[in-house]
Amino acid sequence: MNRLKYILLLGVVLLAGVCSAAVTAGNLRCEYLADPLGIDAGSPRLSWILSSNHRGETQTAYQILVASSEKQLKTDAGDLWDSGKVISDESAQVVYAGCPLVSRERCFWKVRAWDRAGHPGAWSPVAQWQMGLLKPEDWLAKWIAPKAPAAIPTAPLVIRRATYEAVAEGKTADVTAALMKQVKQDHLKLVVNNKTLGVDPAYNVVKHLHVEYEYGGQSLTKEIDENQTLVLPEQPSALPYLRKAFDLKSPVQRAVLYATALGLYDVHINGRRVGDHVLAPDWTDYRKRVRYQAYDVTALLKKGGNAMAASLANGWFSGHIGNGGNAFFGKEPAFLAQLEVTYKDGHTEQVATDDTWKSLDSPVLASDFMLGEDYDARLEVKGWDKSGLDESRWTPVGVRDESSPQLGSQVMEPVRQICELKPKKVTEVKPGCWVYDLGQNMVGVVRLKVSAPVGTKITLRHAEMLNPNGTIYTQNLRGATSVDHYVCKGGGEEIWQPVFTFHGFRYVELTGLPGRPSKNAVTGIVIASDTTRTGEFACSDPRINQLQSNIQWGQRGNYVSIPTDCPQRDERLGWMGDAEVFIRTATYNSDVAAFFTKWLVDVDDGQTSAGSFSDVSPNTMNCDSVPAWGDAGVICPWTIYEVYGDKRILEQHLPAMTKWVEYLRLHSNGLIREKDRGNDYGDWLSIGADTPKDLIGTTFFAYSTHLLAKSYRAVGRVEQADKYQQLFEDIKAAFNKRYVAADGRIKGNTQCVYAMALKFELLSEELRPKAAQYLEEDIKAKGTHLSTGFVGVSYLLPVLTQMGKADTAYSLLLQDTFPSWLFSVKHGATTIWERWDGWTPDKGFQDPGMNSFNHYSLGSCGEYLFGGVGGIRPASPGFKNILIEPVIGDGLTWAKTSYDSIHGQIATAWKCEGNQLTLEVIVPVNTTATIHVPAMDIANVTESGRRVEKVESVNFLRMEQGSAVFEVGSGTYKFVSKTMR
Ligand code: BGC
Repeated sequence: MNRLKYILLLGVVLLAGVCSAAVTAGNLRCEYLADPLGIDAGSPRLSWILSSNHRGETQTAYQILVASSEKQLKTDAGDLWDSGKVISDESAQVVYAGCPLVSRERCFWKVRAWDRAGHPGAWSPVAQWQMGLLKPEDWLAKWIAPKAPAAIPTAPLVIRRATYEAVAEGKTADVTAALMKQVKQDHLKLVVNNKTLGVDPAYNVVKHLHVEYEYGGQSLTKEIDENQTLVLPEQPSALPYLRKAFDLKSPVQRAVLYATALGLYDVHINGRRVGDHVLAPDWTDYRKRVRYQAYDVTALLKKGGNAMAASLANGWFSGHIGNGGNAFFGKEPAFLAQLEVTYKDGHTEQVATDDTWKSLDSPVLASDFMLGEDYDARLEVKGWDKSGLDESRWTPVGVRDESSPQLGSQVMEPVRQICELKPKKVTEVKPGCWVYDLGQNMVGVVRLKVSAPVGTKITLRHAEMLNPNGTIYTQNLRGATSVDHYVCKGGGEEIWQPVFTFHGFRYVELTGLPGRPSKNAVTGIVIASDTTRTGEFACSDPRINQLQSNIQWGQRGNYVSIPTDCPQRDERLGWMGDAEVFIRTATYNSDVAAFFTKWLVDVDDGQTSAGSFSDVSPNTMNCDSVPAWGDAGVICPWTIYEVYGDKRILEQHLPAMTKWVEYLRLHSNGLIREKDRGNDYGDWLSIGADTPKDLIGTTFFAYSTHLLAKSYRAVGRVEQADKYQQLFEDIKAAFNKRYVAADGRIKGNTQCVYAMALKFELLSEELRPKAAQYLEEDIKAKGTHLSTGFVGVSYLLPVLTQMGKADTAYSLLLQDTFPSWLFSVKHGATTIWERWDGWTPDKGFQDPGMNSFNHYSLGSCGEYLFGGVGGIRPASPGFKNILIEPVIGDGLTWAKTSYDSIHGQIATAWKCEGNQLTLEVIVPVNTTATIHVPAMDIANVTESGRRVEKVESVNFLRMEQGSAVFEVGSGTYKFVSKTMR
């Protein structure tokens, strides 16, 4: 054989090899994350995504190799784990079962899969993870903070004049005596509200306190809003810098920094910022635990002189948090860091926080989530984060004993800067007062870019809406003044952006700048927990596309460290009800598995010893046991299991879930929840309907019990599953006896009661259609309008569709008169509003005491866009089996939906032309799908141009309710149905 022929033949053989090696594994993740650092699960779970050009492809076996170095892995020998060839179709949540892993262990891994025909695919690209610091003894570092300033000699504090004012209303009350009475020696501390001041000058309005006082021989004033904490005399509040200079004796092989704070930190090494986290560490109940972050900082270090420096802020630990909380977890922040260096010669060295660190006031004069950040650029310290600094002004830090919070790794996506928004418009609303419109209600901060003389003080105020005269509307922020100040150092262009605060806003008011600011003086910096986007939805109605955009922006802005209710007013708490109603929608939009894995620990941390879940997690409000809010402790783990096939989350939370259900049983009469329902929010913010609260309590008791039974069954604990299934049946019987009439009418007769009873499977088969009929009748009687609040809203559309009333579901979805989802869209909303009537043309703004324009709860209809209109739903946990059942309804002519599941991308695209429907579907490798194609008759259905009966890879199952139902394996399919109706 001549050489050319040989090469050609070899090529053909290789090509054939490639083609038959049908499945390739990629997108490797450990505990849901790509290449994470700081894993603390002893047996982490591994997932990968398979791809292939063939239809109906599956994984019949896999092999995982885990090695202690990349070099070792290259030899195809896993010294930590070689799973061998495992006959299994599992490609997600595979539990590591190699050598026991120790602190700091680096694990490099790859996987290959065997296809349906038994051919092995190529090895995947290499991925890695590194174990965290698993034992308390691994921590050498000590908690440090600036030493408390030397005690100021006591001086009398005298309140000269204090007025409590409703400025717009022109009403004022003199509260001088009320304040003076509360001065303790030389000190005053109180939360500003009607109760503490003993008067309400204007009902239903956020007020403002103006205080003139004398202290230490000085005459001073203080301005503060209702609900904020007044502290006099004001504490010196500049945020501290902390630093340590150190030498490294030889070249560095690798270095990892473990850092965290009680509060927030921003750490730099040799003048460069470490990592891209914002507002680290994420919020936890610091009384119980604090999460550390791990960073690979090898590239930042050098042989010789180095410096590590951090700035430190109060954040959730010691700043203002929602509903009047201030310094809730502690008085002053503290920092903890441990740098672990491995030299090229194998030696190791640690640089940890201790009493050799030094501190100095930073130019950040104050920073607080609710109040904003103040920065004086004149006070900048050149080289504060570099080696070789003259440290003579720096003073030694103090070491703090903080043994109680448990240290754990942060195994979730951090908050990051997500994108930037340029202003759409700038208006001078008053002389020297400029309002920037960013065109989108967003969460984050402004990056300011100005040139102004030294000492110029610029004020930035933030708002979601405008007053009719074009000025910013801030009343709904309540006590969150949300004002940033920047004092210029002069001498050219200055760029600044706050580091330790965030605001919810679309409009920015800029004052203090001499002359006209440029349009690019303001840029919106959007922050969010950086969960990977997984869902895309678009359809023929631009209003629905805007609704979907509003839902996504709502999620982005409110998933900041924890799932919050709103980002703008002085609340921003982990409200459990909000989290529970929205979680299913959230899972379509982004991969929220790691985010909820972390938050559900906060939820368990907030559970009382009696078993009651709290209203907010982290639990800062000390209230508990509210129906639909507390039930988040059961609904959320179950949802994560359903969507990601995560059994471990169930196993981990089953004890807390069980305690909750037993709490509900104990706090019921005859299984009816007619007592002990805490703050009992009902179907919160429903409109024109009143759903009995004991009934909501009982339905959620039933639902949580049912999910608990299913959870036990999912993890194979049959006895417990049977026990709670029986309890569910008993609650169901009690519910029917108490609330359901013989004709199927349910007490309250609201949309919410029927939606819950149907969704939670509380009715007999005979009564279900009747309940659906009453639900539909009520919607129609209201002129095709909904009346549900937070609790009932997410069930409406899926339940109507399930009960054969998809037309009504579509009419509701496409309704744009008040109240409806599209009402706010019609009026220019770019996020979901808290209330159906947050603003109406006839009444203007609702009660500013509770009127957020960025609250995702009522956007929980997003689930229906993906699962209903797009028709993508899990038929088994983790979308291993998929149900494709799009609802093709009047009003939409096409819809395109895609969702990146833990097994890969699932997509549908449908289009109606006359009586013809085209439905394109993508099914990922190693999954199966049951596809419903609307059709009168299978004879008129084709797939990729061929009569469907002739297509081998498409298996016809049955005709069902006007659809031909097929079963398929992975691949891309194009169905055309010529007789859709
Ligand atoms: C929050 C809600 C929360 C509610 C409890 C409100 O102030 O903003 O979203 O669920 O209180 O009803």
